[in-house]
This record gives sequence, structure tokens and C-alpha cells, in this order.
Amino acid sequence: MDYLARNPRDPARETQYSLASGADRSPRSIRSIPETPGGTRAPDPLMNYTLRPEDMETVKKLGEGAGGTVSKVKHLPTGFVMARKHVRCDPNPDFQRLLERELKTLDRCHSPWIVTFYGAYMDGDELAICMEYCEGGSMESVYKHVADSGKTIPEKVLGKISEAVLNGLVYLHKMHHVIHRDLKPSNIVITMEGNIKLCDFGVSGDLVNSLAETFVGTSYYMAPERIQGGKYPVQSDVWSLGLTMIEIAQMKNPFPNNLAPFELLHYIVNQPVPSLPEDEPWSGDFRDFLAQCMIKDYKKRPTPEQIMEHPFIADSSIRTKDEVDMKAWIRGVWGYVDRSTD
Ligand SMILES: Nc1ncnc2c1ncn2[C@@H]1O[C@H](COP(=O)(O)OP(=O)(O)O)[C@@H](O)[C@H]1O
Ligand SMILES: [Mg+2]
Repeated sequence: MDYLARNPRDPARETQYSLASGADRSPRSIRSIPETPGGTRAPDPLMNYTLRPEDMETVKKLGEGAGGTVSKVKHLPTGFVMARKHVRCDPNPDFQRLLERELKTLDRCHSPWIVTFYGAYMDGDELAICMEYCEGGSMESVYKHVADSGKTIPEKVLGKISEAVLNGLVYLHKMHHVIHRDLKPSNIVITMEGNIKLCDFGVSGDLVNSLAETFVGTSYYMAPERIQGGKYPVQSDVWSLGLTMIEIAQMKNPFPNNLAPFELLHYIVNQPVPSLPEDEPWSGDFRDFLAQCMIKDYKKRPTPEQIMEHPFIADSSIRTKDEVDMKAWIRGVWGYVDRSTD
């Protein structure tokens, strides 16, 4: 399985690598490689290394989901910091074939709106997927922290989050024919530069869950068509986006929290769709955007590309950094002070 390892050291590439392996090996200097806009590949500081379990030091555990555990790790030979997801792996050959195909897709994704994949390796019977560490955390951890501080998330910030997610979905769909299938607040992460990215589509979500049968597919974020017929059109991601944005805006899940899994599925299909409370000061555009995302009949629901043209997104996309500064916002959320210039 060639995708479970990266290219071996290539002396011809040493020069390119010297930025990361020279005197200053701090992760900060490596991460400061500028983001290349438009989806071209940023220099990969690990490109000459084969990722191996023994070279990884666990810095801290970031969390645990249905499919596995995510940790912040340091690649000892380079000092490069990454997020590593461990997932239980099924030894059956069909699974291994699918996995290889999915890892190839991950490796081909190069977009500012998608968490960069650095490589994968087997550690015992677990697959370790190494990816870009987004130090601002997930939208779930962010909104919970904002709620705990007694604050709210401004609508302009919600616009930038929706816009970034849609850019990611359109990129996945147009460039790779991939539907995310597991869009939710914990799969949207943010860097301390204020860049928002998608993670956990394909390999680390649906595939592993379905084939390893470690997880019975019930999710708050499932669209009605998936519950009713198991269909997964591209519009299903738009439903999940609507629900995700209501949750981030409200800083809590919009469904009643006392429902058993079967009752939840029944609720999603049969009850009115969630919306923002009437007495809260959200704009008509935001409310309409959410209503469009959550049209129950997927044939009438817009695709990611179509909903990009909604005024809520169109207006957000022309807002400058001066009007909505995501870097300042996320740093404010975490009380982050940059000491790199001290
Ligand atoms: N690249 C990453 N950078 C920072 N945090 C991450 C990254 N990937 C995952 N996480 C965090 O790790 C935690 C566990 O993730 P996961 O196992 O995918 O479970 P789930 O997404 O279902 O909560 C989540 O809070 C997630 O936001
Ligand atoms: Mg996840």
C-alpha cells in the first residue's frame, strides 16, 4: 500500500527542505511558509520523510470521535507539529483497496479550505492519518468557549465561516467529485491566522465508519433523504451546513437533546426544520440562507455552488479584512498573544 508511506528521502530535494531542517527548526518557522492561494501546493516540509510511528511524539490529545482519536503530535526529526488521527482499521482486502483510493484523493487535495494531508502509516492495526494542525480548534470547541465566556458570535463572522465551508465543498465536488458526508462543527477547523478549513471527509469519516462497522450511522447532521432512502446527493452537504450554522449561531444543537436515535431520525424527517428564534436580531439574509440550506426536498435544495450566489454569501465575500478580521476574532476568542516577535 504505497500511500501509507511518503516518498523516501530524495537528495535532490534537500535544498528545498533546508528551510525546515536548517538552524531554526521551530514549527513556527516551518508553518510560516505562505499559504498559496488558488489551490496550488504549498511547500511540504515533510516531503523527504517517510512518516513512522517511532518519529512521532504525542504533545496532547485533542479529542475523540466515533471513528478514532485525534492528537497533536510532533515529528521529531523536523520538529514539525501536526494533527494525527488514529482510526481502527479493517484488515479485509476490499476495505484496504477503498482506503488506498481514498488516501490518494486526500493526497491530491490542495486547497486553502481543506486541511492539508501529510501522509499516513499503519501503527499496529490502526491507521494513523497525519494532517495540518489547526491551532484555533474546531468550530465546536470555539462556539462552546464563546458561550462559556458569555459572548456571542457576530453574524459577519458566521458569514465568513459559511463562505469558507462552501468554498471547501465546491472545491471537493468540482475538483475531486467528493461529497463531504460528515459536515458538522467539529469537522470545521480554524488556524490562528483565521483560515477556516474542512477535515474528515472520505477516509477518516464515512469509509472507515461504514466498513469497519464501528459506528451506527446516526447523526444530528444527516439530511432527510439520507434517512429516508440512503441517498447521498451533493445537496446533503448543504443541509448539514445549514444545521451546522444554526448550531454555531445559537451555540447549541438545535434539536431537542432528549431524543433517542430513532426519535431523532423521525424528528428530522417529520418535524418543521430548525430555524433561528424570531426574537433574535439576525438579518433576513442569514435567515433566508439557512432556510434555503434546509429545504427538506433535496431536489429543491441548492447545491453548494448554487448557494454560493445567495446574498448572505455574496455580501460576505466582498467584506474586507477591515470589516471582518477573522485573525483578530479567533485570537480574541482564545486570548492568544503572539510572542514570536518578543
Ligand atoms: N487538523 C486538526 N486540527 C485541530 N484539531 C483537530 C484536527 N482534526 C480534528 N481535530 C479535533 O479533534 C477532535 C476529535 O476529532 P474526531 O475524532 O474527528 O471526532 P469528531 O469530529 O466526531 O468530534 C475534534 O474536536 C476535532 O475538532
Ligand atoms: Mg472529526
